[in-house]
Amino acid sequence: QQNHLSKYKMKVGTTDYQKILNQIQQELSQAEVSGKVAAYIPELAKVSPEKFGMHLYNLEGENYCFGNSEERFSIQSISKVFSLALAMKIIDSDLWKRVGVEPSGARFNSLSLLEDNGGIPRNPFINAGALVVADVLVSCFSNPKAAFLSFMHELTGNSTISYDETVAASERSEGYRNFAMANYLKSFGNIKNDVEEVLDFYFHQCSITMSCKELSQAFIVFANKGNLLDTDRQLLTGKQVKRINALMLTCGFYDEAGEFSFEVGLPGKSGVGGGIVAVHPNHYAVAVWSPPLNPKGNSARGMAALERLTTLTGYSIF
Ligand code: DON
Repeated sequence: QQNHLSKYKMKVGTTDYQKILNQIQQELSQAEVSGKVAAYIPELAKVSPEKFGMHLYNLEGENYCFGNSEERFSIQSISKVFSLALAMKIIDSDLWKRVGVEPSGARFNSLSLLEDNGGIPRNPFINAGALVVADVLVSCFSNPKAAFLSFMHELTGNSTISYDETVAASERSEGYRNFAMANYLKSFGNIKNDVEEVLDFYFHQCSITMSCKELSQAFIVFANKGNLLDTDRQLLTGKQVKRINALMLTCGFYDEAGEFSFEVGLPGKSGVGGGIVAVHPNHYAVAVWSPPLNPKGNSARGMAALERLTTLTGYSIF
């Protein structure tokens, strides 16, 4: 057993990530880009479909990258992982009375499952669940937007991470479905605060801009049992990280979570800005950005890039 384990460690340890990333860039830059840049948030429609970057950060503190890996983009639903982590730090077990932990098998913005579940969203990563998490944070902090940013700064060690007010306003201007959802949740008593206030917080958390490099560094905590890499400080417990990774694996890609597991085999989270972050526990965090989305709302080229990563390295969590 021991022999077998050390062989595994040695092989992962000697993986030439830069060579593999270069191959992914070469293969996929030439491939035709399928999918469409998200247009339902007018500001996002302006982003070039040609952007393509990837960044892998491992527990040894090594960085590997290509393309537009240092350019910031709208993280959108990737922010749901950060808001969930903060809410779990504060209330944890009470949170699970208000939001479930099962895959939805439905689109990210579906309203349909709320009726039968008495206003309890299936999981914290569909919009309905993220709105309940946002409501928890609005209840816990007198200035939730400032508290969320300071959590992001603590997580990344980078105090320049911020909201993009133009994107937040743009999403609000067309946010009819999220307004409907928040009001519907409120009718079940599963939003405690003013709907406007909860949505304002939610649109802001989605508007945060980060690069692939910054995202992989922020997600390393989920590969490192809750510890920050630079300072070794424990930000989340091992149990919290286990649960967040489990939710990313089963619910991180909405009605495409099965496909992502099947093709990539890592916990991960996508956003309609075209970003995807994935975690290989005890090894690395990786972020990829390519704006055109497939019909399920996930980056088409990003999914392909991560499939190539686990195939070419020969390692996933399975
Ligand atoms: O609520 C929305 O529609 C967006 N702010 C976030 C959606 C999103 O990123 C879904 N992910 N693929």
